[in-house]
Amino acid sequence: MKEFYKDNSIVIYNEDNLNVLQNIPDESVNLIYCDILYNTGKVFEDYNDNLGNPYQALAWYRRRIAHMHKVLCANGSIFLHCNWRLDSYIRILMDEIFGAECFRNRIYRKHSNERGFYKNFDSQIDTILYYVKDPNNFIFNEIIEDRKHIVPLYENGFLEGRSETRYTKDGTAIDLKAQHKHWLIFPKDFEALIQKNELRLVNGLPYRVSNIKPLGNLWCDSDMLDAYSRTAIADAYDTPKPEAILNNIISICSNEGDTVADFFLGGGTTAVVTKKLNRKGIFCDISQKACTVTVQKLKAL
Ligand SMILES: C[S@@+](CC[C@H](N)C(=O)[O-])C[C@H]1O[C@@H](n2cnc3c(N)ncnc32)[C@H](O)[C@@H]1O
Repeated sequence: MKEFYKDNSIVIYNEDNLNVLQNIPDESVNLIYCDILYNTGKVFEDYNDNLGNPYQALAWYRRRIAHMHKVLCANGSIFLHCNWRLDSYIRILMDEIFGAECFRNRIYRKHSNERGFYKNFDSQIDTILYYVKDPNNFIFNEIIEDRKHIVPLYENGFLEGRSETRYTKDGTAIDLKAQHKHWLIFPKDFEALIQKNELRLVNGLPYRVSNIKPLGNLWCDSDMLDAYSRTAIADAYDTPKPEAILNNIISICSNEGDTVADFFLGGGTTAVVTKKLNRKGIFCDISQKACTVTVQKLKAL
């Protein structure tokens, strides 16, 4: 495979992603983010966003996602950015390839304010499916703040395997099963909380009190919106994803020096944020224009 661009941390291929995925060593990527084809049916100047009906689209994606699973490290994470057209189909495909237990979340990203739609509710969100390769071993760098936050460590309802463990704090046994509740944490998490003195009991129920900022899956701050006022460079792409999305994903789910990959690079937001956050990157796009725009942005950093 011939590189389109290479510097000391980033490599970009101007190729079909299937070809690139077939040539990357197994377990060599720590984090994958892809803003995949939404299958709008639109034909753009440099690529065709028409994969046929949803089942034909799934057939196109199946081989690519199977390769993504192979190239991801044992403790790696993957985020697939979709919209309403394919996200439910891709979720089922991801469950099939990664395993349903590897699903972590579906993130809802508000992309625009209401513009008005003819006889319909305007579509204002897209969704990011978040999976890990191993649900017991993945990177999640919490955000630390100056203030304390209290979060419950239990939920209502008996859940087999999650209710029976009786932890003890200061000689008091915490019996969630008796209260028809279950734990949200595992034994190693409990030990860590005790060590850091972050476990509190309130009316006999366990909470974490810490400086960790609670994070939600509704990403609707103004910096998450698509920027319709575009710069000259980003003009080549209709709606490049804002850096705020990639900042969250890359800083929380990888460490400095890790390798990030995006196989649908487009205007290059993932490459730019990867570079800014001191990660390494493997990127590709079938469009030469996309690769050129990305290189211009990287050189301008
Ligand atoms: C929705 S855009 C990505 C936008 C990007 N997230 C950004 O912030 O600019 C999808 C990109 O996938 C690329 N693409 C389509 N089919 C591809 C394929 N088979 N292999 C590699 N890239 C492909 C298109 O050229 C397009 O640039």
